[in-house]
Amino acid sequence: MRGVRTWFPVKKGFFRRDSGHVKAVDGVDLDIYRGEIIGLVGESGCGKTTLGKSLLQLVKPTGGTMEYAFQDGTRDLMKLSKRELDKARKTLQIVFQDPYSSLNPAFTIFGSLEEPLKKFGMRKKADRERIIGDLLVSVNLQREHLFRYPNEFSGGQRQRIGIARALSLNPELIACDEAVSALELSETSQLFANTLHPYTKALLAAIPVADLSRLNFSRLLSPKRPSNIISTTT
Ligand SMILES: Nc1ncnc2c1ncn2[C@@H]1O[C@H](COP(=O)(O)OP(=O)(O)OP(=O)(O)O)[C@@H](O)[C@H]1O
Ligand SMILES: [Mg+2]
Repeated sequence: MRGVRTWFPVKKGFFRRDSGHVKAVDGVDLDIYRGEIIGLVGESGCGKTTLGKSLLQLVKPTGGTMEYAFQDGTRDLMKLSKRELDKARKTLQIVFQDPYSSLNPAFTIFGSLEEPLKKFGMRKKADRERIIGDLLVSVNLQREHLFRYPNEFSGGQRQRIGIARALSLNPELIACDEAVSALELSETSQLFANTLHPYTKALLAAIPVADLSRLNFSRLLSPKRPSNIISTTT
């Protein structure tokens, strides 16, 4: 990505006129290579979540370019049509900081997680049940958890469900927004030891550790100071 900007308009006054912008992301250049794990570090509000969402096009970036080398050619993520974006969801996934807001409370875990599998052609319910069950087991949950609702899980368990969901389509790139922040350290290392899935391993290898000698990010990025200072446009 080059020069990526995501600005949010700030509305003010009775007429809700745009009175400026929050420059949540302002001029990010970043290369991510296959097999690489990149950690983004910065203080609260500096734009980490917004950058992740921008990459996945969950918020529309204001400017810049984001070239992604898909199997069938390189394209700018920011210029994909809605249909192309839908297709790209198989390749690009995100694990949210707050998994509760991203799980539909009215659906069982199976109900939520089977949707993408269905959409990408897994027709047999028994196959979907097996795959999602395997994924739950790989993040230290139980197959029986398939038919429970999100409110029946702890925060850490929900976060693991979020990880399982992101893994379900075997994506190439996963943006993890504090994907393991609700997990106990013991839980994460246990998960790491037990896990079957190579993506889960890579994901868990990205957990920030207090002991810097154990740090295994391949690279650390430190963005500029938060640029979320309101600038007036009028
Ligand atoms: N939808 C939005 N509309 C307006 N402003 C937003 C929106 N989303 C985020 N912001 C602002 O953009 C800035 C960056 O927010 P962001 O959530 O990306 O920070 P963060 O680095 O993930 O912080 P944290 O470490 O606390 O999760 C903040 O000032 C925030 O208030
Ligand atoms: Mg955040």
